[in-house]
Amino acid sequence: MSAVPAHVPADLVRPFDYHQDPDFLSDPHLAFERIRDQRVFFSPRYGGYWVLTRAEDIRLAFQQPDIFSSREFSIPTGIYPRVLRPLSLDPPDHGTYRQPLAPLFAPNSVARREKELRGVCADLVEGFAGDGKVDLVAGLARPFPTTVFVSILGLPVAEAPVFEQWNHDLLHAYDEPERRQQAAKNILSYLDDLVGRRMAEGPLAGEDLFSVLLKAKVSGRALTHDELLDYAFMLFIAGLDTVTASLGFSLHCLATRPDLQVQLASGQSLVSAAVEEFLRAYSIINTARVVTQDASFAGVEMRAGDRVLLSTPLAGRDPYEVDQADQIVLDRQVNRHLAFGAGPHRCLGSHLARLELRIALEELLRRVRAFRLQDGAEVVRHGGGALGIDQLPVCWQT
Ligand code: HEM
Repeated sequence: MSAVPAHVPADLVRPFDYHQDPDFLSDPHLAFERIRDQRVFFSPRYGGYWVLTRAEDIRLAFQQPDIFSSREFSIPTGIYPRVLRPLSLDPPDHGTYRQPLAPLFAPNSVARREKELRGVCADLVEGFAGDGKVDLVAGLARPFPTTVFVSILGLPVAEAPVFEQWNHDLLHAYDEPERRQQAAKNILSYLDDLVGRRMAEGPLAGEDLFSVLLKAKVSGRALTHDELLDYAFMLFIAGLDTVTASLGFSLHCLATRPDLQVQLASGQSLVSAAVEEFLRAYSIINTARVVTQDASFAGVEMRAGDRVLLSTPLAGRDPYEVDQADQIVLDRQVNRHLAFGAGPHRCLGSHLARLELRIALEELLRRVRAFRLQDGAEVVRHGGGALGIDQLPVCWQT
Protein backbone atom coordinates (compact mmCIF):
# COMPACT_ATOMS: atom_id res chain seq x y z
CA MET A 1 0.00 0.00 0.00
CA SER A 2 1.30 3.47 -0.90
CA ALA A 3 2.24 5.63 2.06
CA VAL A 4 0.68 8.59 0.20
CA PRO A 5 -3.12 8.39 0.41
CA ALA A 6 -5.22 9.59 -2.55
CA HIS A 7 -6.45 12.74 -0.73
CA VAL A 8 -2.90 14.15 -0.40
CA PRO A 9 -2.06 16.52 -3.31
CA ALA A 10 1.15 15.54 -5.11
CA ASP A 11 2.72 18.97 -4.60
CA LEU A 12 2.51 18.49 -0.83
CA VAL A 13 4.49 15.25 -0.82
CA ARG A 14 8.02 15.72 0.48
CA PRO A 15 10.23 12.88 1.71
CA PHE A 16 11.46 13.83 5.15
CA ASP A 17 12.83 11.62 7.90
CA TYR A 18 13.74 13.29 11.16
CA HIS A 19 15.06 10.00 12.55
CA GLN A 20 17.57 8.96 9.90
CA ASP A 21 18.32 11.79 7.42
CA PRO A 22 22.03 12.57 7.81
CA ASP A 23 21.13 16.25 8.37
CA PHE A 24 19.24 15.26 11.50
CA LEU A 25 22.10 13.24 12.85
CA SER A 26 24.55 16.11 12.48
CA ASP A 27 22.49 19.12 13.58
CA PRO A 28 18.77 18.43 14.03
CA HIS A 29 17.75 22.01 14.87
CA LEU A 30 19.42 23.32 11.73
CA ALA A 31 17.89 20.52 9.66
CA PHE A 32 14.39 21.60 10.72
CA GLU A 33 15.11 25.08 9.40
CA ARG A 34 15.31 23.69 5.88
CA ILE A 35 11.65 22.68 5.72
CA ARG A 36 10.00 25.91 6.80
CA ASP A 37 9.19 27.08 3.28
CA GLN A 38 5.92 25.06 3.33
CA ARG A 39 3.27 25.62 6.00
CA VAL A 40 2.35 21.95 5.84
CA PHE A 41 3.48 18.95 3.79
CA PHE A 42 3.18 15.16 3.77
CA SER A 43 6.14 12.85 4.27
CA PRO A 44 5.70 9.29 2.91
CA ARG A 45 8.16 7.84 5.48
CA TYR A 46 7.07 5.50 8.31
CA GLY A 47 3.65 4.88 6.74
CA GLY A 48 3.11 8.57 5.94
CA TYR A 49 2.44 11.63 8.11
CA TRP A 50 1.64 15.34 7.85
CA VAL A 51 4.21 17.85 9.05
CA LEU A 52 2.98 21.20 10.40
CA THR A 53 5.73 23.83 10.38
CA ARG A 54 4.01 26.86 12.00
CA ALA A 55 3.84 27.32 15.78
CA GLU A 56 0.24 28.56 15.55
CA ASP A 57 -0.94 25.38 13.80
CA ILE A 58 1.08 23.11 16.11
CA ARG A 59 -0.37 24.82 19.20
CA LEU A 60 -3.94 24.50 17.84
CA ALA A 61 -3.43 20.79 17.14
CA PHE A 62 -2.13 20.25 20.70
CA GLN A 63 -5.25 22.00 21.99
CA GLN A 64 -7.80 19.95 20.03
CA PRO A 65 -7.60 16.36 21.31
CA ASP A 66 -11.05 15.62 19.86
CA ILE A 67 -9.55 15.94 16.35
CA PHE A 68 -5.91 15.12 17.12
CA SER A 69 -5.81 12.01 19.29
CA SER A 70 -2.78 10.91 21.34
CA ARG A 71 -3.68 7.25 20.77
CA GLU A 72 -0.67 7.14 18.44
CA PHE A 73 1.77 9.69 19.76
CA SER A 74 4.95 8.42 18.16
CA ILE A 75 6.15 7.97 14.60
CA PRO A 76 6.79 5.11 14.00
CA THR A 77 4.00 3.87 16.28
CA GLY A 78 4.13 1.17 18.94
CA ILE A 79 7.78 1.51 19.95
CA TYR A 80 7.16 1.20 23.70
CA PRO A 81 6.52 -2.11 25.50
CA ARG A 82 4.01 -0.62 28.03
CA VAL A 83 0.99 1.68 27.91
CA LEU A 84 2.31 5.17 28.51
CA ARG A 85 -0.54 6.61 30.59
CA PRO A 86 -1.54 9.47 30.58
CA LEU A 87 0.48 10.32 27.44
CA SER A 88 -1.40 7.95 25.15
CA LEU A 89 -4.93 8.65 26.43
CA ASP A 90 -7.49 11.20 25.25
CA PRO A 91 -9.94 13.09 27.48
CA PRO A 92 -11.82 12.13 29.60
CA ASP A 93 -9.68 9.03 30.44
CA HIS A 94 -6.58 11.18 30.14
CA GLY A 95 -7.58 13.37 33.11
CA THR A 96 -8.41 10.31 35.23
CA TYR A 97 -4.85 9.02 34.85
CA ARG A 98 -3.05 12.40 34.93
CA GLN A 99 -4.64 13.44 38.20
CA PRO A 100 -2.89 10.91 40.52
CA LEU A 101 0.53 12.21 39.43
CA ALA A 102 -0.33 15.87 39.79
CA PRO A 103 0.60 16.31 43.51
CA LEU A 104 4.11 14.96 42.88
CA PHE A 105 4.86 17.59 40.23
CA ALA A 106 2.99 20.58 41.67
CA PRO A 107 5.15 23.73 42.06
CA ASN A 108 5.30 23.46 45.88
CA SER A 109 6.32 19.80 45.93
CA VAL A 110 9.00 20.47 43.33
CA ALA A 111 10.31 23.50 45.22
CA ARG A 112 10.77 21.30 48.32
CA ARG A 113 13.24 19.19 46.35
CA GLU A 114 15.54 22.11 45.50
CA LYS A 115 18.03 21.60 48.35
CA GLU A 116 18.45 17.90 47.66
CA LEU A 117 18.79 18.44 43.89
CA ARG A 118 21.33 21.19 44.38
CA GLY A 119 23.43 18.88 46.57
CA VAL A 120 23.35 16.10 43.96
CA CYS A 121 24.31 18.50 41.20
CA ALA A 122 27.07 20.20 43.20
CA ASP A 123 28.63 16.78 43.94
CA LEU A 124 28.64 15.90 40.25
CA VAL A 125 30.26 19.21 39.23
CA GLU A 126 32.82 19.03 42.02
CA GLY A 127 33.76 15.58 40.75
CA PHE A 128 35.23 17.07 37.55
CA ALA A 129 35.72 20.82 38.21
CA GLY A 130 39.42 20.37 39.04
CA ASP A 131 40.15 18.27 35.93
CA GLY A 132 39.99 21.06 33.31
CA LYS A 133 38.04 18.84 30.93
CA VAL A 134 34.97 16.60 30.85
CA ASP A 135 32.28 15.21 28.57
CA LEU A 136 29.43 17.34 29.91
CA VAL A 137 26.82 14.79 28.83
CA ALA A 138 28.47 11.86 30.63
CA GLY A 139 29.58 14.04 33.57
CA LEU A 140 26.46 16.10 34.20
CA ALA A 141 23.56 16.09 31.71
CA ARG A 142 22.96 12.34 31.98
CA PRO A 143 23.69 11.48 35.64
CA PHE A 144 21.89 14.50 37.13
CA PRO A 145 18.33 13.75 35.90
CA THR A 146 18.88 10.03 36.42
CA THR A 147 19.76 10.60 40.07
CA VAL A 148 16.71 12.84 40.45
CA PHE A 149 14.51 10.09 38.99
CA VAL A 150 15.98 7.49 41.34
CA SER A 151 15.24 9.78 44.27
CA ILE A 152 11.64 10.31 43.04
CA LEU A 153 11.24 6.54 42.99
CA GLY A 154 12.32 6.58 46.64
CA LEU A 155 15.52 4.61 45.94
CA PRO A 156 19.03 5.33 47.24
CA VAL A 157 20.98 7.55 44.81
CA ALA A 158 23.68 4.85 44.58
CA GLU A 159 21.27 3.01 42.21
CA ALA A 160 21.50 5.82 39.62
CA PRO A 161 24.30 4.37 37.42
CA VAL A 162 22.26 1.21 36.73
CA PHE A 163 19.37 3.32 35.43
CA GLU A 164 21.75 5.43 33.40
CA GLN A 165 22.97 2.39 31.49
CA TRP A 166 19.43 1.08 30.87
CA ASN A 167 18.30 4.49 29.76
CA HIS A 168 21.17 4.73 27.33
CA ASP A 169 20.59 1.24 25.95
CA LEU A 170 16.82 1.66 25.60
CA LEU A 171 16.82 5.05 23.95
CA HIS A 172 20.20 5.28 22.24
CA ALA A 173 21.33 1.85 21.08
CA TYR A 174 19.86 2.88 17.70
CA ASP A 175 21.23 0.02 15.64
CA GLU A 176 21.05 -2.68 18.27
CA PRO A 177 17.42 -3.84 18.66
CA GLU A 178 18.41 -6.76 20.88
CA ARG A 179 20.22 -4.48 23.31
CA ARG A 180 17.17 -2.19 23.37
CA GLN A 181 14.82 -5.09 24.08
CA GLN A 182 17.09 -6.39 26.81
CA ALA A 183 17.23 -2.95 28.43
CA ALA A 184 13.41 -2.69 28.34
CA LYS A 185 13.16 -6.14 29.96
CA ASN A 186 15.69 -5.22 32.65
CA ILE A 187 13.98 -1.95 33.52
CA LEU A 188 10.54 -3.52 33.63
CA SER A 189 11.66 -6.43 35.74
CA TYR A 190 13.43 -4.08 38.20
CA LEU A 191 10.37 -1.79 38.41
CA ASP A 192 8.04 -4.78 38.71
CA ASP A 193 9.92 -6.00 41.81
CA LEU A 194 9.99 -2.50 43.22
CA VAL A 195 6.21 -2.07 42.75
CA GLY A 196 5.63 -5.42 44.49
CA ARG A 197 7.76 -4.36 47.46
CA ARG A 198 6.22 -0.92 47.71
CA MET A 199 2.66 -2.24 47.52
CA ALA A 200 3.48 -4.55 50.42
CA GLU A 201 5.04 -1.69 52.45
CA GLY A 202 2.31 0.88 51.73
CA PRO A 203 2.84 4.65 51.55
CA LEU A 204 5.87 6.01 53.45
CA ALA A 205 6.17 9.41 55.10
CA GLY A 206 8.03 11.01 52.19
CA GLU A 207 6.92 12.38 48.82
CA ASP A 208 8.25 9.63 46.57
CA LEU A 209 6.28 8.41 43.55
CA PHE A 210 4.84 5.29 45.18
CA SER A 211 3.88 7.01 48.43
CA VAL A 212 1.86 9.49 46.36
CA LEU A 213 0.35 6.90 44.02
CA LEU A 214 -0.50 4.38 46.75
CA LYS A 215 -2.75 7.02 48.34
CA ALA A 216 -4.36 7.96 45.00
CA LYS A 217 -7.63 6.67 43.54
CA VAL A 218 -8.80 6.26 39.95
CA SER A 219 -12.56 6.06 39.48
CA GLY A 220 -12.90 5.50 43.24
CA ARG A 221 -10.47 2.56 43.52
CA ALA A 222 -6.79 2.10 44.34
CA LEU A 223 -4.28 1.74 41.49
CA THR A 224 -3.35 -1.81 40.49
CA HIS A 225 0.16 -3.30 40.35
CA ASP A 226 0.17 -2.99 36.55
CA GLU A 227 -0.94 0.63 36.63
CA LEU A 228 1.81 1.52 39.11
CA LEU A 229 4.34 -0.20 36.87
CA ASP A 230 3.03 1.72 33.84
CA TYR A 231 3.41 5.04 35.66
CA ALA A 232 6.98 4.29 36.74
CA PHE A 233 7.97 3.20 33.23
CA MET A 234 6.27 6.23 31.67
CA LEU A 235 8.21 8.58 33.93
CA PHE A 236 11.43 6.77 33.05
CA ILE A 237 10.69 7.55 29.36
CA ALA A 238 9.38 11.09 29.92
CA GLY A 239 11.65 12.49 32.59
CA LEU A 240 15.26 11.44 32.09
CA ASP A 241 16.29 11.79 28.49
CA THR A 242 14.33 15.00 28.05
CA VAL A 243 16.30 16.86 30.71
CA THR A 244 19.57 15.30 29.50
CA ALA A 245 18.88 16.55 25.98
CA SER A 246 17.72 20.05 26.97
CA LEU A 247 20.68 20.46 29.26
CA GLY A 248 23.06 19.06 26.63
CA PHE A 249 21.93 21.54 23.98
CA SER A 250 22.04 24.45 26.46
CA LEU A 251 25.58 23.55 27.50
CA HIS A 252 26.67 23.11 23.90
CA CYS A 253 25.39 26.58 23.13
CA LEU A 254 27.29 28.02 26.11
CA ALA A 255 30.48 26.14 25.20
CA THR A 256 30.46 27.88 21.82
CA ARG A 257 29.35 31.31 23.14
CA PRO A 258 31.78 32.70 25.78
CA ASP A 259 29.86 35.99 25.66
CA LEU A 260 26.72 34.23 26.99
CA GLN A 261 28.72 32.62 29.79
CA VAL A 262 29.97 36.06 30.87
CA GLN A 263 26.45 37.50 30.64
CA LEU A 264 25.04 34.67 32.78
CA ALA A 265 27.83 34.76 35.36
CA SER A 266 27.16 38.49 35.85
CA GLY A 267 23.66 37.97 37.27
CA GLN A 268 22.03 34.88 38.75
CA SER A 269 18.63 36.38 37.97
CA LEU A 270 19.28 35.86 34.25
CA VAL A 271 19.57 32.09 34.65
CA SER A 272 15.81 31.44 34.76
CA ALA A 273 15.31 33.53 31.60
CA ALA A 274 18.20 31.68 29.96
CA VAL A 275 16.60 28.32 30.79
CA GLU A 276 13.43 29.50 29.02
CA GLU A 277 15.38 30.74 26.01
CA PHE A 278 17.31 27.47 25.67
CA LEU A 279 14.05 25.51 26.00
CA ARG A 280 12.62 27.56 23.13
CA ALA A 281 15.61 27.58 20.78
CA TYR A 282 16.57 23.97 21.48
CA SER A 283 13.15 22.37 21.92
CA ILE A 284 13.53 18.62 21.61
CA ILE A 285 10.20 16.79 21.43
CA ASN A 286 8.71 15.60 18.14
CA THR A 287 5.43 14.08 19.21
CA ALA A 288 2.54 12.95 17.02
CA ARG A 289 -1.22 12.62 16.81
CA VAL A 290 -3.72 10.63 14.77
CA VAL A 291 -6.65 12.46 13.12
CA THR A 292 -10.03 11.22 14.45
CA GLN A 293 -12.36 12.77 11.84
CA ASP A 294 -12.03 14.33 8.38
CA ALA A 295 -11.02 17.96 8.91
CA SER A 296 -9.68 21.02 7.08
CA PHE A 297 -6.60 22.09 8.98
CA ALA A 298 -3.67 24.40 8.17
CA GLY A 299 -5.07 24.81 4.65
CA VAL A 300 -5.19 21.08 3.80
CA GLU A 301 -7.80 18.35 3.90
CA MET A 302 -6.91 15.73 6.51
CA ARG A 303 -8.74 12.41 6.76
CA ALA A 304 -9.53 10.27 9.80
CA GLY A 305 -6.57 7.96 10.39
CA ASP A 306 -3.93 10.40 9.05
CA ARG A 307 -1.00 10.96 11.34
CA VAL A 308 0.45 14.38 12.13
CA LEU A 309 3.88 15.31 13.46
CA LEU A 310 3.83 18.01 16.14
CA SER A 311 7.40 19.22 16.28
CA THR A 312 8.25 21.53 19.17
CA PRO A 313 11.69 22.37 17.62
CA LEU A 314 9.86 23.67 14.53
CA ALA A 315 7.50 25.70 16.71
CA GLY A 316 10.30 27.16 18.83
CA ARG A 317 12.06 28.86 15.94
CA ASP A 318 9.04 29.87 13.87
CA PRO A 319 9.81 33.39 12.57
CA TYR A 320 6.05 34.08 12.26
CA GLU A 321 5.80 33.81 16.04
CA VAL A 322 9.21 34.71 17.47
CA ASP A 323 11.35 37.81 16.76
CA GLN A 324 14.96 36.92 15.98
CA ALA A 325 13.89 33.28 16.20
CA ASP A 326 17.31 31.91 15.29
CA GLN A 327 19.14 34.06 17.86
CA ILE A 328 19.74 33.38 21.56
CA VAL A 329 18.41 36.41 23.44
CA LEU A 330 18.84 35.63 27.13
CA ASP A 331 16.65 38.44 28.39
CA ARG A 332 13.67 38.11 26.03
CA GLN A 333 10.67 39.93 27.45
CA VAL A 334 8.12 37.52 25.95
CA ASN A 335 9.01 33.87 25.46
CA ARG A 336 5.94 31.89 24.40
CA HIS A 337 7.44 28.55 23.43
CA LEU A 338 5.96 25.07 23.01
CA ALA A 339 8.89 23.09 24.42
CA PHE A 340 6.54 21.47 26.96
CA GLY A 341 3.68 21.07 24.48
CA ALA A 342 0.23 22.61 25.08
CA GLY A 343 -3.35 21.56 25.78
CA PRO A 344 -4.29 18.63 28.05
CA HIS A 345 -0.97 16.77 27.71
CA ARG A 346 1.22 19.80 28.48
CA CYS A 347 4.27 18.45 30.28
CA LEU A 348 3.44 17.51 33.85
CA GLY A 349 7.12 17.62 34.79
CA SER A 350 7.77 21.15 33.52
CA HIS A 351 8.38 22.67 36.99
CA LEU A 352 10.80 19.90 37.87
CA ALA A 353 12.53 20.16 34.48
CA ARG A 354 12.95 23.92 34.84
CA LEU A 355 14.35 23.50 38.36
CA GLU A 356 16.85 20.86 37.22
CA LEU A 357 17.98 23.02 34.30
CA ARG A 358 18.37 26.13 36.44
CA ILE A 359 20.30 24.30 39.17
CA ALA A 360 22.60 22.64 36.63
CA LEU A 361 23.50 25.95 34.99
CA GLU A 362 24.00 27.71 38.33
CA GLU A 363 26.14 24.97 39.89
CA LEU A 364 28.27 24.55 36.78
CA LEU A 365 28.86 28.26 36.15
CA ARG A 366 29.73 28.76 39.83
CA ARG A 367 32.60 26.25 39.64
CA VAL A 368 33.72 26.16 36.01
CA ARG A 369 34.57 29.38 34.19
CA ALA A 370 34.96 29.93 30.43
CA PHE A 371 34.50 26.35 29.26
CA ARG A 372 34.77 25.67 25.53
CA LEU A 373 34.67 22.73 23.15
CA GLN A 374 37.86 20.66 23.24
CA ASP A 375 40.02 21.10 20.14
CA GLY A 376 38.89 18.64 17.48
CA ALA A 377 35.99 17.57 19.72
CA GLU A 378 33.33 15.41 18.18
CA VAL A 379 29.93 16.65 19.32
CA VAL A 380 27.49 13.78 18.71
CA ARG A 381 23.79 14.62 18.27
CA HIS A 382 20.73 12.62 17.23
CA GLY A 383 17.30 13.24 15.68
CA GLY A 384 14.05 11.33 16.33
CA GLY A 385 11.11 11.67 18.73
CA ALA A 386 13.37 13.35 21.27
CA LEU A 387 16.37 15.17 19.79
CA GLY A 388 19.51 14.88 21.83
CA ILE A 389 23.19 15.31 22.25
CA ASP A 390 25.23 12.23 23.14
CA GLN A 391 28.71 13.59 23.66
CA LEU A 392 29.98 17.06 24.54
CA PRO A 393 33.72 17.18 25.30
CA VAL A 394 34.68 20.57 26.80
CA CYS A 395 37.74 22.03 28.55
CA TRP A 396 38.65 25.08 30.66
CA GLN A 397 41.55 26.58 32.62
CA THR A 398 41.78 25.37 36.21
C1 HEM B 1 13.26 19.74 29.52
C2 HEM B 1 12.68 18.60 29.82
C3 HEM B 1 11.32 18.18 29.31
C4 HEM B 1 10.70 18.48 28.13
C5 HEM B 1 11.24 19.33 26.98
C6 HEM B 1 9.41 17.81 28.15
C7 HEM B 1 8.46 17.90 27.13
C8 HEM B 1 7.22 17.31 27.16
C9 HEM B 1 6.24 17.43 26.12
C10 HEM B 1 6.40 18.20 24.82
C11 HEM B 1 5.14 16.72 26.51
C12 HEM B 1 3.84 16.57 25.74
C13 HEM B 1 3.87 15.37 24.80
C14 HEM B 1 2.62 15.26 23.98
O1 HEM B 1 1.70 16.09 24.07
O2 HEM B 1 2.55 14.30 23.18
C15 HEM B 1 5.44 16.15 27.81
C16 HEM B 1 4.57 15.37 28.55
C17 HEM B 1 4.89 14.84 29.76
N1 HEM B 1 6.04 15.03 30.49
FE1 HEM B 1 7.61 16.17 29.96
N2 HEM B 1 9.28 17.13 29.32
C18 HEM B 1 10.41 17.34 30.07
C19 HEM B 1 10.68 16.84 31.33
C20 HEM B 1 9.83 16.07 32.06
C21 HEM B 1 10.11 15.58 33.40
C22 HEM B 1 11.36 15.88 34.20
C23 HEM B 1 9.05 14.82 33.75
C24 HEM B 1 8.80 14.05 35.03
C25 HEM B 1 9.72 13.49 35.75
C26 HEM B 1 8.08 14.86 32.67
C27 HEM B 1 6.87 14.23 32.67
C28 HEM B 1 5.93 14.33 31.66
C29 HEM B 1 4.65 13.65 31.72
C30 HEM B 1 4.11 12.80 32.85
C31 HEM B 1 4.00 13.98 30.52
C32 HEM B 1 2.62 13.49 30.09
C33 HEM B 1 1.57 14.50 30.42
C34 HEM B 1 0.20 14.09 29.91
O3 HEM B 1 0.08 13.24 29.02
O4 HEM B 1 -0.77 14.63 30.45
N3 HEM B 1 8.60 15.63 31.66
N4 HEM B 1 6.72 16.53 28.18
